[in-house]
Amino acid sequence: MISEKISKSLNEQLNREFYSGYIYLGMSAFASKLGFNGCAKWFNMQYQEEMVHAMKLFKYLEDQGSDIELKDIKAPKIKAKTIVEAFEDSLKHEQMMTEALNELSDMTMKEKDHATYNLLQWYVTEQVEEEASFKEIIDNMKMVGDNGFGLYTLDKELGTRVFDINSMK
Ligand code: FEO
Repeated sequence: MISEKISKSLNEQLNREFYSGYIYLGMSAFASKLGFNGCAKWFNMQYQEEMVHAMKLFKYLEDQGSDIELKDIKAPKIKAKTIVEAFEDSLKHEQMMTEALNELSDMTMKEKDHATYNLLQWYVTEQVEEEASFKEIIDNMKMVGDNGFGLYTLDKELGTRVFDINSMK
């Protein structure tokens, strides 16, 4: 059993994870429109990962006998004009997610809620990986600049990403 405060906060995080998925689906459509089909696939894989993040929380709330509150998912606003901006905006979003998860983690520490704290450490570690992969892509894109062949190669490479649910357990 978890406190009402923690349960409410986890429900908010659940919504944020679904929203993250929605953002990346939007980014996927944006990349595809620009002709970056590899990037579109990469964002689509990211969307699927976010669904796993959300469902992990969903299952936890279920296991704890907490109320699951499915809220409206905000429509994502894709402000990026270029493919590199799409990754930069995504990184900013992930940094916001990291902050939210750290705050949640602090809350569980204060409440001595060990089970939820333990669950959240998986997310905290996942955030380090997520931020690092966005940073790496941004760095690579900046390195190739507007070199067509470089962008083509990078796009092809990003298109090889596969979604492996087993790596997320
Ligand atoms: Fe589930 Fe990318 O944060």
